[in-house]
Amino acid sequence: MSSCPTLTTERLALRPFRAEDLDPFFAVMTTDEVRASLHVPDDYSRGAAWGSLAAFAGLWELRGLGQWALEERATGRFVGRAGLYWRVEDDWPGVEVGWMLDPAVWGSGYATEAGARAVRYGFEELGEKTLHSVILPENARSAAVARRLGYRPGAERTLSFFPSRLHVVWDLGRAEWEAAAGRVSGG
Ligand SMILES: CC(C)(COP(=O)(O)OP(=O)(O)OC[C@H]1O[C@@H](n2cnc3c(N)ncnc32)[C@H](O)[C@@H]1OP(=O)(O)O)[C@@H](O)C(=O)NCCC(=O)NCCS
Repeated sequence: MSSCPTLTTERLALRPFRAEDLDPFFAVMTTDEVRASLHVPDDYSRGAAWGSLAAFAGLWELRGLGQWALEERATGRFVGRAGLYWRVEDDWPGVEVGWMLDPAVWGSGYATEAGARAVRYGFEELGEKTLHSVILPENARSAAVARRLGYRPGAERTLSFFPSRLHVVWDLGRAEWEAAAGRVSGG
């Protein structure tokens, strides 16, 4: 029994990862669009994808937060992942909300829909005061999701988890989020 809850939004189920998500997850990770956005290495393998799935499940067990597998409710199809994330490095800003979708559904608003639900979970269930989102400056689609959710960008900086690139840490405070309540539905 996973400590990851299953949640629903208007069009999506946010559910724990399962072993059978491996092939659809690997397929999404190896699309040209996702490879380019996330700098997925050329030798990225099914084994590496399996490691990610295990880490997504494990973070829920070890920290009580993590990513959800996203399922399109109308079809039951796996369409990506979104949710909470945390790393051990001292310069990691805190609890992050992140998103990664199959390019076949980009432009549908699914990342914003799932992201809004994850933000609500981060504030209401985890009690976080500020949520973060770590985004490469050139990742305009991801920045647009953060902006739609009410995040504000900080200065570009180097983070030790990926030191060869500058990142922008976007922040969303609980008070700002509460003041904007209703602007983006969290499902
Ligand atoms: C980042 C990423 C998740 C954004 O996906 P996206 O489809 O652009 O974002 P959304 O799901 O919020 O969709 C927004 C778009 O859907 C449109 N849309 C359509 N119906 C909508 C609805 N009901 N609600 C909201 N938006 C809707 C919006 O107008 C917007 O369109 P635009 O792109 O023309 O401006 C996607 O590009 C991705 O997976 N990238 C690779 C992984 C990655 O980079 N992750 C982030 C790392 S920091």
